[in-house]
Amino acid sequence: MKGRVKQFYMKDNEAIHQAAKIIRRGGIVAFPTETVYGLGADAFNPLAVARIFEIKERPYFDPLIVHVAHHGDLDRLVIEIPSQAKTLMERFWPGPLTVVLSKREDVLDIVTAGLPTVAVRMPKHPMASLLIEESGCPIAAPSANPFGYLSPTTAQHVREQLGDKVDLILDGGPCEVGVESTILSFLEKRPRLLRPGGVLLEEVESIIGKVEIDPVKEERPSAPGMLARHYAPRTPIVLDWSDKDLRSYEGKKIGLLAFQEPVNCLKFDYVEVLSKKGDFREAAANLFAAIRRLDAVKLDLILAEPVPEVGLGRAIMDRLRRASHRGR
Ligand code: TXA
Ligand code: MG
Repeated sequence: MKGRVKQFYMKDNEAIHQAAKIIRRGGIVAFPTETVYGLGADAFNPLAVARIFEIKERPYFDPLIVHVAHHGDLDRLVIEIPSQAKTLMERFWPGPLTVVLSKREDVLDIVTAGLPTVAVRMPKHPMASLLIEESGCPIAAPSANPFGYLSPTTAQHVREQLGDKVDLILDGGPCEVGVESTILSFLEKRPRLLRPGGVLLEEVESIIGKVEIDPVKEERPSAPGMLARHYAPRTPIVLDWSDKDLRSYEGKKIGLLAFQEPVNCLKFDYVEVLSKKGDFREAAANLFAAIRRLDAVKLDLILAEPVPEVGLGRAIMDRLRRASHRGR
């Protein structure tokens, strides 16, 4: 184990007390949420928030999501909540839904990258809510990975990548959802999907009607962190391939990221199956850990199997596209 990191378990309330104390004193705590692990600081402490950017080597143009434990916590953060946003928050909070709303003036520019808006979410993991509650402040937190790399879904992933840089890592087990929250913006007439995630677009639309969908943009996306290349492992991932391409890869060490079984394992040096029976939830929960394992075996190339773009398949394909994007 590296440096000053301590590992604690869910049952250990003392760990949460200690983590909350660290947050109150301006420190940085990695904590579990139902989607991925977050790297948290007091959202109203500019120096603490600046340290998050340093640790992640994240560009300052990429704003952070502010995490709350209770609906009342929003009073300090947002000016007003449009009725469609309110309906969705009542239905999906606590849970993997982030809403972008007009911010109150005193929300820090470093948190919002100078935007007039703030992204807010109420995570469902009990350790996350207890941490926010005990800290007594909203917690600004991006995913706990170096910028551009895969999001962590276990405490071990965080330890491997950021271990000696954070003050404490809370271990709440593997994340249940495995892909990040769905981000919806409510600044225009019609709500806009900025990032597909744990809450399904189909469910959102069945409640509030049609939502605009943000295309993947190379530059200046409306969720500034949603650059085309993101979530990338060190090994190149290819999403667009067919059986006949395999011949041209001869002599190379090739891995397969399969959605479901059956898989012809003979053709590949290493295979990860996201869900044997093709279940989206299981596949999403396994996604980042499976890519990490493929990355660790030092292959020349990872071939990923596309998944149907419905339900959670949207979020999975979004992450796979960004992970495979080789442009800048
Ligand atoms: O599930 C999640 O949302 C996880 C857990 C830790 O809560 N967090 C997460 O944070 O994925 P991060 O920083 O990796 O991604 C947040 C995304 C970025 O793409 C950022 O640009 C966008 O949210 N975002 C934050 N504030 C925004 C704003 N005011 N307007 C538009 N997009 C915003
Ligand atoms: Mg992230």
